[in-house]
Amino acid sequence: VNSKQQQLIQMHEKAAEVYHHMLVNTAAGEAALDYLHKRGLDDQLIEEFNIGFAPNQRDFLSRVFQNESLNTEAFPETGLFVERENGDLADRFYQRIMFPIRNYQGKTVGFSGRFFATEDFADKEQPKYLNSPETTLFNKREILFNFDKARSSIRKNGTVYLFEGFMDVLAAYRSGATNGIASMGTSLTNEQIAAVTRLAQELVLCYDGDEAGVAATDRAIGHLQESSHIDLSVISVPEKLDPDEYVKKYGQEAFMKLLEHGKETVFSFKMRYRRMNKNMSNEKEQVDYVQELLHDLLNVDSLIEQDRYLTQLSTEFQISRETLQQQLRDLRQQQR
Ligand code: UTP
Ligand code: MN
Ligand code: MN
Ligand code: MN
Ligand code: MN
Repeated sequence: VNSKQQQLIQMHEKAAEVYHHMLVNTAAGEAALDYLHKRGLDDQLIEEFNIGFAPNQRDFLSRVFQNESLNTEAFPETGLFVERENGDLADRFYQRIMFPIRNYQGKTVGFSGRFFATEDFADKEQPKYLNSPETTLFNKREILFNFDKARSSIRKNGTVYLFEGFMDVLAAYRSGATNGIASMGTSLTNEQIAAVTRLAQELVLCYDGDEAGVAATDRAIGHLQESSHIDLSVISVPEKLDPDEYVKKYGQEAFMKLLEHGKETVFSFKMRYRRMNKNMSNEKEQVDYVQELLHDLLNVDSLIEQDRYLTQLSTEFQISRETLQQQLRDLRQQQR
């Protein structure tokens, strides 16, 4: 880490500190703090994750930085500002609940800000979450939310839970699953997968239960199977809820039960997923379904599992096991 990086990190730590101060100690942050409390985040968790609030004021952070005599020239490189047409810098984040994003070493290198709508500030054009842009510090391909805190627990358990959103990681964390992480709202990169598989033997995908979440689960399975041999399973949150909503509705204990006993094999997920977009009373679509699943079966390493699923398919569609097995062998040949 060179001195320039040091300086940028220092600016991020300063920003996190003042945002946090705004949230917990000032009138400007009161409504946001209430909101977080109502969402189930208590003061201890807010402290631990150093959550903050960026007020609705476009020169808030630049004033703070100037008062601290931080190097003005480095401001643009932090990603914390946007340039206005006249060349002036304005705060990138305003009227947002701020989640500091830390690198693997635990240093704050970026932020994700959740838009906080109030009656007098209901700008519908705003994206719900706004992230820091790519900078020399903030490499989106590598960063995973909460990976630094989750490390020891991932190593101890051998298991990592991958969630879609920050609020889901926090819901799991306060329920007792401290080995949860999330990507930055994008699909997993090879760099992230490599970092995770260095620590974990097992990865459990626990995305949102809505359609977008289910589709993202399928994509994540594809990426993970392509670039790792990690033991994979899926937890589907019922009623199209996301994990955070599930905790809110059914409580932390119920959620821990879901995490501990609600795991599904990847193949079983595939069976459900591939059905979703098909009319299974149509014969052609049934055949397609079986074909697709045989492809999926190529990724099932366990012979026990394979045997089970062949039997299942054979029974459901009245195709002989021999035929299915032959087809599977053919597919495997083609793959080589
Ligand atoms: P969701 O839309 O599921 O949001 O996006 P959420 O996590 O449930 O948020 P809450 O509960 O309404 O606060 C999942 C994740 O996708 C990214 C964020 O990382 C978010 O946590 N995302 C979402 C963005 O980056 N930008 C967006 O505008 C929306
Ligand atoms: Mn504090
Ligand atoms: Mn979602
Ligand atoms: Mn969600
Ligand atoms: Mn949510």
